[in-house]
Amino acid sequence: MTNATISTPEFLLGQARRRFKPALNNFPGMYAAERRLRGTHFHERVLAEPPPGSDLRPVTGDGGLPVLGHMIEMFMDTPDYLLHLYRTRGPVLYAYSPVLPSVVAIGPDAAQEIYSNRNKDYSQEGWKPAIGPFFKRGLMLLDFDEHLYHRRIMQEAFTRARLARYVTQVDRVASAVVADDWVVDDSRFLLYPALKELTLDIASAVFMGHEPGTDKELVTEVNEAFAITTRAGNAIIRVPLPPFTWWRGLRARRLLEEYFAARVTESRRRSEGSAADDLLSVLCHSADEDGNRFSDRDIVNHMIFLMMAAHDTSTSTASTMIFNLAGSPEWQERCRDESDRLGDGPLDIEALEKLESLELVMNESIRMVTPVQWAMRRTVRDTSLLGHYIPEGTNVIAYPGMSHRLAEIWTDPEVFDPARFTEPRNEHKRHRYGFTPFGGGAHKCIGMTFGQLEVKTILHRLLRRYRLELPYPGYRPRWDYGGMPIPMDGMRIALRPL
Ligand code: HEM
Repeated sequence: MTNATISTPEFLLGQARRRFKPALNNFPGMYAAERRLRGTHFHERVLAEPPPGSDLRPVTGDGGLPVLGHMIEMFMDTPDYLLHLYRTRGPVLYAYSPVLPSVVAIGPDAAQEIYSNRNKDYSQEGWKPAIGPFFKRGLMLLDFDEHLYHRRIMQEAFTRARLARYVTQVDRVASAVVADDWVVDDSRFLLYPALKELTLDIASAVFMGHEPGTDKELVTEVNEAFAITTRAGNAIIRVPLPPFTWWRGLRARRLLEEYFAARVTESRRRSEGSAADDLLSVLCHSADEDGNRFSDRDIVNHMIFLMMAAHDTSTSTASTMIFNLAGSPEWQERCRDESDRLGDGPLDIEALEKLESLELVMNESIRMVTPVQWAMRRTVRDTSLLGHYIPEGTNVIAYPGMSHRLAEIWTDPEVFDPARFTEPRNEHKRHRYGFTPFGGGAHKCIGMTFGQLEVKTILHRLLRRYRLELPYPGYRPRWDYGGMPIPMDGMRIALRPL
């Protein structure tokens, strides 16, 4: 497999497509429009009057522009716009968006109430308008007792012993792709699409059990269906009519259901002792302490969600880290020194745990560009949030990426400074919910350690082979905040063989 992103005509075409693909954030003049919108005063409304006699205040907000609401401000730079709202309007306000009207709950105090969810006032139903039809009954979309039941069984697929076996497989794929498929000595190399392909290759092997290079047609078809399903959640026209993205997403989801159902039947036929080590096979045989197991349908739903949850998040994390290391030769050398001490032998969890500088760089990278920008919830009863009245059935969205830029918590938050996570500074401990790239509470990311090990493996293999270089001094990609943050130009990085 050779990476096509680098051949000159395709590269230019790809770049042009990226630059000119119409989106809210790449129209000429959007920056000026966004600045103006921030200063515009829209008509204020009250979400709901608090019950008489309560000390609660109402949540107030506005609808922004007709049809578009505040989408332009959000898409240009979500955390920066939210920081502006936090400073000018406080931590709790209402956005009358036509797509998803919701309470905007910003900052670490709001995050604490929502994540810890003491009275079980917040349900995961908030995710449904965004991704429900495509990722229905995935772990993140389940609630309360039912969620706990499923999480306990799934936990069995993420024990240290299981992770150790996944690491071996991740390493096999990552080592081969990084060594053979990535173009070197060319500052036009587009890192982001190459990484996306790599993390899909890894998922095909580790999650679905396809040996790299085998079952090519099937793997390609499944991966394409998966990409369409994931993108469908961002559709602007949200109706199941051909040829719209939403309809294509539903069609792709059906293909994934058929594929995974067949794989589950196949895997169930094997006895537990002879089961393979991929995640799907593990889920087929996982049981909680009481012997509860997943049904076939559960596994299909969980696999489709897990593929999505693992993919763009790891790609985003790895690409931000590589960009930061390319821009910071000192940290790059420091990480490489640790990698050199490990050498090129097979990797295991203990070895990866020794890559401490890489871990600091990872934390700092997902602080600065947080892959999952939102925690979407819906209230199941009337409740209060930081003294504001919120009625039952209200969408409430917390935004961890904004807390990661607060000067009250982080010294010079805009500066890349991984040492802020070390003793005695420990800036991430200044507020319990100040640093939550993996969420918090009952729904905290179950794949956190897997994701960290995967990304570290990729980075270790890269650092052993190449010096990472920016295409030119001062290069900074612009991020598309329409969904998970994506570098709009594909992120150019030069790989210089060592
Ligand atoms: C490095 C990358 C990752 C980041 C930044 C990340 C982030 C998150 C966040 C913020 C949540 C919480 C969402 C909420 O509160 O509603 C979450 C949940 C989840 N993540 Fe991850 N994730 C990553 C990698 C992974 C991987 C690799 C997997 C699977 C192997 C995974 C599987 C899940 C699942 C299943 C949930 C739902 C957990 C539950 O509801 O109990 N994630 N992730």
